Amino acid sequence: ALITLRQLLDHAAEQGYGVPAFNINNMEQGLAILRAAERCDAPVILQASRGARSYAGDIMLRHMVEALSEMYPQIPVVMHQDHGNNDATCLSAIRHGFTSVMMDGSLEEDMKTPASYDYNVEITARVTRAAHAVGASVEGELGVLGSLETGEAAAEDGSGAEGKLSHDQLLTDPDEAVDFVSRTKCDALAIACGTSHGAYKFTRKPDGDILSMATIAAIHEKLPNTHLVMHGSSSVPQYLQDLINANGGDMPQTYGVPVEEIEKGIRMGVRKVNIDTDCRMAMTGQFRKVAKDKPAEFDPRKFMIPAMDELEALCRDRFERFGTAGQA
Ligand code: G3H
Ligand code: 13P
Ligand code: NA
Ligand code: ZN
Repeated sequence: ALITLRQLLDHAAEQGYGVPAFNINNMEQGLAILRAAERCDAPVILQASRGARSYAGDIMLRHMVEALSEMYPQIPVVMHQDHGNNDATCLSAIRHGFTSVMMDGSLEEDMKTPASYDYNVEITARVTRAAHAVGASVEGELGVLGSLETGEAAAEDGSGAEGKLSHDQLLTDPDEAVDFVSRTKCDALAIACGTSHGAYKFTRKPDGDILSMATIAAIHEKLPNTHLVMHGSSSVPQYLQDLINANGGDMPQTYGVPVEEIEKGIRMGVRKVNIDTDCRMAMTGQFRKVAKDKPAEFDPRKFMIPAMDELEALCRDRFERFGTAGQA
């Protein structure tokens, strides 16, 4: 059944678990994620970016999510707009059946320029009033992540995008977070704690210097009733880099957010964990392997089936490790 983000994360907070939010663009991703959820007895968050909505179309996405929840009636499903850039994006998502939206006012509407604090408060408060009036949940964002949000590639020095942005911008200020939530009334808050979007987050395994668990702990202490969201949470596992590169790929060595760091974040109050890059790598790794091992193959299902299996395995691992398993 479709539920709101607020309903799911209230339960996650009571029980002390985290929920991965997987990006979805097509049927195969949806099937793989829901198969994993079913095997683990886990609730799921499916999220669609603006790019996903234009790729699949709003009508297709709505019917796909309805079909998935009809196929797996015992699994609670949240349908969430990822990185909404203005009121129109968020409200049209709700009209198309999304039960939750992210109003990302940390950036201007162009999603490239860091926004002023006042702009962020104003637009997030306005979207929250409208969403709450029709029973949908809202995620806001305070603080600017690296690469995707600035339009800059991650720096080559192992510090994510830190070379481009000031330390203050990269770590959400806990007192400002308190003011932001009281003025916007958002249900969940995406915070900046040193992660960035995409595959090229770090050039070495990150430690306490480039991932700030202290920021998460400080915000959670001041805002115990606001659900914290960690974007840029792909782990970019070595086995998937190897699978891609052993089959004709050419991805430079890179490091993501180790799953054990996410587990620490969940113990410190993170409830929603955004993962897209890992899912892309799982599918693409298998596409490449089939193409290399079976050059005569041309039936797309022969590519899709192992790709879905690889994605399902990745999702199951995250459900188990985040404590989502058994919570449906
Ligand atoms: O945070 C961004 C997500 O990974 C979605 O990416 O805009 O290419 O669909 P996309
Ligand atoms: P990754 O690129 O680390 O998967 O992050 C995805 C994300 O934050 C989507 O909003
Ligand atoms: Na989001
Ligand atoms: Zn994100």
